Amino acid sequence: MIHESLPKIWYGGDYNPEQWPDETIEEDIRMFQLAGIDVVTLNVFSWEKIQVDDHSYEAEWLDRLIDRLYEAGIYTCLATGTGAHPAWMAKKYPEVLRVDFYGRKRKFGGRHNSCPSSPVYREYAGRMAAFLADRYQGHPAVLAWHVSNEYGGRCYCSLCEQAFREWLQQKYGTLNALNHAWNTAFWGHTFYEWDEIVVPNALSEEREGGETDNQGISLDYRRFMSDQLLACYYKEYEAIKTYTPNLPVTTNFMGTYEGIDYFQWAPYLDVVSWDNYPGMETPPSETAMTHDLMRGLKQGQPFMLMEQTPSQQNWQPYNSLKRPGVMRMWSYQAVAHGADTVQFFQLRRSPGATEKFHGAIIEHAGHEHTRVFRESAALGEELQKLGDVLTDSTSRARAAILYDWETRWAAELSSGPSVEIDYVREVHAYYRAFFDQHIPVDIVHPEQDWSGYDIVIAPMMYMVKEAWAKRVESFTAQGGAFVTTYFSGVADESDRVHLGGYPGPLRKVLGIWVEEIDALPPAYTNTAAVTLPVGQLKGAYECRYLFDLLHSEGAEVVAVYENDFYAGMPVITKNQFGKGEAWYIASHMESQALHDLIATITEGKNISPLVPWASEGVEAAERVKNGEQYLFLLNHSRVPAQAELNGRYTDLLTDELLAFHCNLEKNDARILRKEHKE
Ligand code: GLA
Ligand code: ZN
Repeated sequence: MIHESLPKIWYGGDYNPEQWPDETIEEDIRMFQLAGIDVVTLNVFSWEKIQVDDHSYEAEWLDRLIDRLYEAGIYTCLATGTGAHPAWMAKKYPEVLRVDFYGRKRKFGGRHNSCPSSPVYREYAGRMAAFLADRYQGHPAVLAWHVSNEYGGRCYCSLCEQAFREWLQQKYGTLNALNHAWNTAFWGHTFYEWDEIVVPNALSEEREGGETDNQGISLDYRRFMSDQLLACYYKEYEAIKTYTPNLPVTTNFMGTYEGIDYFQWAPYLDVVSWDNYPGMETPPSETAMTHDLMRGLKQGQPFMLMEQTPSQQNWQPYNSLKRPGVMRMWSYQAVAHGADTVQFFQLRRSPGATEKFHGAIIEHAGHEHTRVFRESAALGEELQKLGDVLTDSTSRARAAILYDWETRWAAELSSGPSVEIDYVREVHAYYRAFFDQHIPVDIVHPEQDWSGYDIVIAPMMYMVKEAWAKRVESFTAQGGAFVTTYFSGVADESDRVHLGGYPGPLRKVLGIWVEEIDALPPAYTNTAAVTLPVGQLKGAYECRYLFDLLHSEGAEVVAVYENDFYAGMPVITKNQFGKGEAWYIASHMESQALHDLIATITEGKNISPLVPWASEGVEAAERVKNGEQYLFLLNHSRVPAQAELNGRYTDLLTDELLAFHCNLEKNDARILRKEHKE
């Protein structure tokens, strides 16, 4: 439970009363009550209102607000406000301003704009967190802390450059070790003094879009920036914990955002929270995958849906409205995958500036007689009815997909073999094969616990550390089914190639070796023809982008290429290893191939889907708690749909009893509790 004072799925979101007069705030409170809103996130962007200069703090306005909301039955998730520094600070201490990728010193403006290495920024941010935690410790309204906002971006200033050199010194100890790791003998880049090392940006090694002339330094800079931002977060975390050790502290993540290694951060958060902004065309499976990734950060612990829009964004090229019912359905999708809160950005639309066209529960019309308000209030009522039935429930997936930011950085920084190297797309392709078959899957880091899984899938595991390869071997030897793909096992943690043939340390477990990698434009495809039908794998499948030319060293050849000069060479292999099996998929496969592959492997492990059958577009997910199973059915299609059920269920919202069958309206979401008696 996130906080025992509110044992239900929290409902609310970012509220920016600093933009409004008192009368409006009173109106807002009336409408929050109507909508069943019980938590508001305050102070996300009001650093300057609390700290008007170097020494003066003024928070009476915040005291009054928190108290007034609390009187009205509304709790506070309190932000520290350090996501945008005040103008006076930028003027007085220019070091807090970032230097961008092109080496340009920024002026005041925008947000998320502070240099993470600036001692002034860190000091002032830490003091602000301490000031707030001290002031509100023991206040019954404050249930959680929201540090800063959506940490991200990179800075290339001289403070960061100096800090980077120190970070490298810590990591490598000697320049010899660093020169080796980065293979600096290439193009004569050997360093003889630490201060010869400069930040990798457009003035040095990198070009826009992530191209780099030295993967080693660029990879380390990504790690370093993630660490610097983490240090900023942690400084505030510690300050808060000094005063309120028992209140949960979080910062809002951004799903598959590229710039931060969230697995590295997760241990320092009490609860993970994230902001979900799918576009109209985002596949539901991709949103589901991202929720599962966020749940995976703390290996299954429920998370907070910190932000979503009730209706539309303002920053996408086309900000379509969520169609009637979609906000509700997507809220339950988050809950289905582990969210214990449903929070919005934002509760009231701004009257001006860049987010004035961003959706809110209270629209510019300013009253409750709107479609968005009615839908929001209806959901608020349902969440009250659900109470604490679902909070703290978990998943019990027997399959896992590995996900790792370092691997993604390394793979995508690669120059060649193709611009089509897209880590998240490859992970999603495998995720979707589970999703479409209603089989739950967890997303885990290569170093987390895999012991609960029968199946581990490692899409594009480009980087393989020695210890990871050992884990793969012992997992497989003990009976697990392991799957990996093209562009795996290529490099070590410094992006030095594992010599002796790809996939390096995974060769033994996979029973293959890769001699060459062909890369063709997307329009050129090959065909994987199944020569050894196994399970559901039969016929022929289209494949594209990258094509490994590989040799079996004991693995069974399941499918071969049909075309080109490597026709007849293996493209899908399966190797018996100890009590388990290790599969290699040597190209990017069309979705039917992955569907059939996952069906084959899950059937082999007696893993059955959550529902025996459902119409196209229906998603099934499950949470379990205290011996009860809760089945979520979501109809993402634009027409009514149906699902067959494995027995009898009770609908938690309508109390309807269902036997073996469930109807779903268009955009419907139903939560069904499994009955123990058949
Ligand atoms: C992010 C931010 C919010 C707001 C929303 C708009 O998630 O955290 O402050 O800008 O985007 O979608
Ligand atoms: Zn900097």
